[in-house]
Amino acid sequence: MDYTAAVITVSDKGSQGLREDTSGPALVKMLEENGFTVVETGIIPDDYEQIRGTLIRLADETKVCLALTTGGTGFSHRDVTPEATMSVVERPAPGIPEAMRAFSLTITPRAALSREAAGLRGDTVIVNLPGSRKASTENLSAVLDSLKHGIDILRGRDADCGEEHHHGGEHHHHG
Ligand code: MTE
Repeated sequence: MDYTAAVITVSDKGSQGLREDTSGPALVKMLEENGFTVVETGIIPDDYEQIRGTLIRLADETKVCLALTTGGTGFSHRDVTPEATMSVVERPAPGIPEAMRAFSLTITPRAALSREAAGLRGDTVIVNLPGSRKASTENLSAVLDSLKHGIDILRGRDADCGEEHHHGGEHHHHG
């Protein structure tokens, strides 16, 4: 089955070339190792309207199965990714950030400061991740398998709810 994804890094410094984006490439690698085809990556500033516009385009035109953002989810005044995300989703999916934070709290109490949101727009699942490479990959690892199942359901694919983890079959895991 086909799982397409986009990874958008939200960072003022990254978008100006002042900071190397290590989260985006790490997330791409993790997605590809788990059966996703990454069709778009990008770096945009912490700008509410640009985040909105990018997510709307990915959902309505590119129609990716999964649109991931990394960055802009903390407490600084420029961090507006969750607000921009919630303004474009048609239906919130709070269980995704709940699961990410529940897992992340077992790693660091600072996970309480992460404000990630997630939701559905059309046939696209939109998920915010934190900005750092460590935090973003840890958060994605907590929900990635469930996200594939959610995509199957959202797209009306023949999803088997009885199986918690898909191994084998038409899903090929690397390694
Ligand atoms: N979650 C995990 N799994 N691992 C981490 O190291 N760091 C936290 C938290 N979530 C962290 C994590 C920290 S230090 C902060 S400040 C918040 O995410 C917000 O991160 P952000 O501003 O990069 O979005």
